[in-house]
Amino acid sequence: YNGQTKKVHNPNLLSIAHRGASSFAPENTRAAFQKGVELQADYLECDVHVSKDGELVIMHDEKVDRTTNGSGLISEYTLEELKNLDVGSYHSDMFAGETIMTMNELLEEFYDHVGLLIELKNPASYPGVEEKVVSILNEYEDLGSIIIQSFDVESMRKIHNLLPSLEVAVLIRPAESLLSSRKLDDLTSFASYINFNVSFLNKRMVDNIHRRDSKVLVWSKKDKKLVAKAQKYGVDGIISDFSKWPDNEQIFLVQE
Ligand code: G3P
Ligand code: CA
Repeated sequence: YNGQTKKVHNPNLLSIAHRGASSFAPENTRAAFQKGVELQADYLECDVHVSKDGELVIMHDEKVDRTTNGSGLISEYTLEELKNLDVGSYHSDMFAGETIMTMNELLEEFYDHVGLLIELKNPASYPGVEEKVVSILNEYEDLGSIIIQSFDVESMRKIHNLLPSLEVAVLIRPAESLLSSRKLDDLTSFASYINFNVSFLNKRMVDNIHRRDSKVLVWSKKDKKLVAKAQKYGVDGIISDFSKWPDNEQIFLVQE
């Protein structure tokens, strides 16, 4: 990618492009990531799975069915086989021929231009994935613009222990959003960010996390009041399908 150089647009409220600028281009593809940079996202969010031959690849679902012309689990495909799938046509003909990216390619192409919020999907089904992530990131001297996140708390604790200089985030499932003080003490002892669905968050929770020196990110499913709510609660960043900022009118909403 040869676009603009990296900058944080508004350090007080990070703008994070969910699966890239996924309202404009097929999610988790080079095209969506390029669009995210163009629209001045501070970070690109993406999802990582592991191929049959152990390569870290960028896709949301554990199966290729929804977003490609193939079917079955990512873990049953080698990288070479995955590279033969079309990850753009499901969105529109305009993106026909887009191919799956590896985590290495994502870093090579975007690290210099934008922050990266990398989610490990189902890390428990990919034993050793944390070590793989750390060994890739060890090639980069400055990890200040990279965050690793997951719903899997123990996986994030492991990443933190392997590479304490790397920021990790814990994603909170909507049904588990009322975190006890004890749970908050534990999570904030290693996680730089706690990330919620905005509909299941209240200001007191945000304050309780800030008091423990961690930050709060929110994502949302079709919530038109996302930005206003997030600002009212004082969160530190918004993960949405669109990342133009700070023109609230143009914030696109996270897809189902
Ligand atoms: O980063 C938050 C969000 O990505 C979590 O949900 O399903 O889009 O990965 P999902
Ligand atoms: Ca995600």
